[in-house]
Amino acid sequence: MDAMEVTGGRRLEGRVRASGAKNAALPIMAASILADGPMRLRNVPDLMDIRTMARLLAALGVKVERDAGGDLLLECTSRRKSEAPYRIMRTMRAGICVLGPLVARRRKVKVSLPGGCAIGDRPVDLHLKGLRTLGAKLEIEHGYIVGGGRRLRGAEMYLGGPFGSTVTGTANILMAAVLARGVTVIDCAACEPEVQDLCRVLIKMGAQIQGVGSPRLVIEGVEGLTGCEHSVIPDRIEAGTLLLAGAATGGDVTVEGARWNDLFALVHTLREAGAAVEHFDDTIRVRARRRLKSVDVTTLPFPGFPTDLQAQMMATLTAADGISVVTEKIFPDRFMHVAELTRMGARIRKEGNAAVVHGARRLSGAPVMASDLRASAALVVAGLVAQGKTNITRIYHLDRGYEKIEQKLRRLGAKIRRYRES
Ligand code: EPU
Repeated sequence: MDAMEVTGGRRLEGRVRASGAKNAALPIMAASILADGPMRLRNVPDLMDIRTMARLLAALGVKVERDAGGDLLLECTSRRKSEAPYRIMRTMRAGICVLGPLVARRRKVKVSLPGGCAIGDRPVDLHLKGLRTLGAKLEIEHGYIVGGGRRLRGAEMYLGGPFGSTVTGTANILMAAVLARGVTVIDCAACEPEVQDLCRVLIKMGAQIQGVGSPRLVIEGVEGLTGCEHSVIPDRIEAGTLLLAGAATGGDVTVEGARWNDLFALVHTLREAGAAVEHFDDTIRVRARRRLKSVDVTTLPFPGFPTDLQAQMMATLTAADGISVVTEKIFPDRFMHVAELTRMGARIRKEGNAAVVHGARRLSGAPVMASDLRASAALVVAGLVAQGKTNITRIYHLDRGYEKIEQKLRRLGAKIRRYRES
């Protein structure tokens, strides 16, 4: 298994570009099931989750290949198979994004419930509620969602759950409603930039969607959809992670492909913590000459502070002056990184869905273990500020969501290397 060694204590400086957004690309790839004709996607990162989605789509009759220029070409060549098997679904929760398109196009479906997840409970009840409201007859049998029905019918629905809106749930209902008969209204739809990007793709394919980016989406079903070309938005979470790494090390980092409109919760939080943040076009620059100050952070659905940056923010705050409270309102158990940060000398007390971070700690490098994608990124940030060497094992979690992260960090002056664990 690959591991990573980070030698801390260097100020990061320079300019890097964020890759395309994994969480935008995954549902957009699933939309290929809906298309009559080929899709060409640009700016799709080369990551494990993208390859897993390609495998899943291949099992569902979609031909997926990367051309020499790096574009992803997808074309549905057979509509006979409609089983999303457990062996693929257990490795990637985003596989659930095939459910909506399959229900819309294949009528009879068998989709495995996704596997367990280190960040806590991740039910799909809202996905099922929404699809059932559109008329799909779906049951859970032996770990699979099975059923289908006739052509879906547009309907009004409220898609909010105990933790707010659902990102992949909204994606699934959207992809089913675009081909339903009549009008669908989704209230409490997710407004995340990744959902907006999916809407843009569906509109290019011929869908009728109003309210893009708002919590009320109005979809008028159409008879068919074509293929399209699209360039996936840059990854706001990767960009945010790089900006936090810059701020945490007292550095001066400029990230291209960091869209202000997608990242203002982070930008304002960094400013409140004392960093200077500027933005021009799709570029954000962070400078943190002095030690950061403590700030309280609460994760919320977009445009709130993203849960996918909570762990990296916490790692940054371990070195800030004062006491910060980090509250997690999307995944209340998403605190696996706390124990590992504590091993590096952080003082963090967990209280329910919050963590009280006593800052001004000089972290010291230690052997630590990655538990999920964003927790791994937090350990990298912690390793960059710590004294000495941090060895992170199970780095495959990081590879699921960060393309060429060592190269990018090295370009900014980090000392970081990958090695094979014996
Ligand atoms: N929820 C329900 N019922 C549902 C669906 C969700 O109660 O049917 C709850 C969840 O348990 C959670 C909240 O609603 O408490 C929000 O979950 P959401 O459905 O929005 O999460 P997701 O769609 O499964 C996506 C991202 C996650 C990101 C979350 C929140 C993808 C592929 N995944 O997950 O990304 O954390 O939205 O923004 O888009 C990551 O990239 O590391 C990652 C975990």
